[in-house]
Amino acid sequence: QDKKDLKGKKILITAGPTREAIDPVRYITNHSSGKMGYAIAERALDRGAEVLLISGPTNLKAPVGVNKIDVNTTNEMYEAVLKSFEWADVVIKSAAVADYRPAMVAENKIKKDDNDFSIKLVRNPDILKELGKRKKDNKILVGFAAETQNLFHNAKNKIQNKNLDFIVANDLTKEGAGFKSDTNIVTIIDKNGQTKHYEKMPKIDLAEIILDKVKSLLIEE
Ligand code: PMT
Repeated sequence: QDKKDLKGKKILITAGPTREAIDPVRYITNHSSGKMGYAIAERALDRGAEVLLISGPTNLKAPVGVNKIDVNTTNEMYEAVLKSFEWADVVIKSAAVADYRPAMVAENKIKKDDNDFSIKLVRNPDILKELGKRKKDNKILVGFAAETQNLFHNAKNKIQNKNLDFIVANDLTKEGAGFKSDTNIVTIIDKNGQTKHYEKMPKIDLAEIILDKVKSLLIEE
């Protein structure tokens, strides 16, 4: 496919996990590989968009031509995304963001003893929610939802709470969906309640479908 139907559009994509340090050798994170977000970046670039990829730590290489900013923590991702929010016509938030971080990062490696040990966690900012607050009508905001239960209910709440145009909800209970795999199984729900389920497919094909939906919303304006 070599249509350049996103030419002139500026698309900000987040991908991968965020990572929150406990001490110099340990951290809290999740299973995101970045594959979903990098696939969207690749297809958006091929379709002519200007692409900014803000990525947590992954083993993936960004396609040549994609502008990439590397971040580690949720706060770093927050800063980087907010800085470029004005620039972007479209924001697609496929990153799996750590909602909590240790209240304190120990300066030295924490030594074990015979006692149990607990870590106090504090809330991280909700990046997408903040974007939703600042969003003006001419921007398109796309979220993801990774759920293990009440997928539809939670995804619909996220559309409202975060002021999204649509959400891509992965059903993490299904084999071949969500984290790490080359495929995904999702339901796309938009702010008008229109809902469509997609059977298992490669993430690169799903990226195309997500961008088709973005494109149709850009035309509606
Ligand atoms: O990277 P892969 O291995 O390919 O896996 C893909 C994926 C499963 C990571 C991806 O498809 C996905 O679902 N990404 C979102 C995962 C997630 O964190 O979902 P959530 O339901 O916790 O968050 C909802 C939305 O709010 C997401 O768009 C998330 O980026 C955003 N968010 C969440 C928390 C937070 N503090 N700030 C945010 O912006």
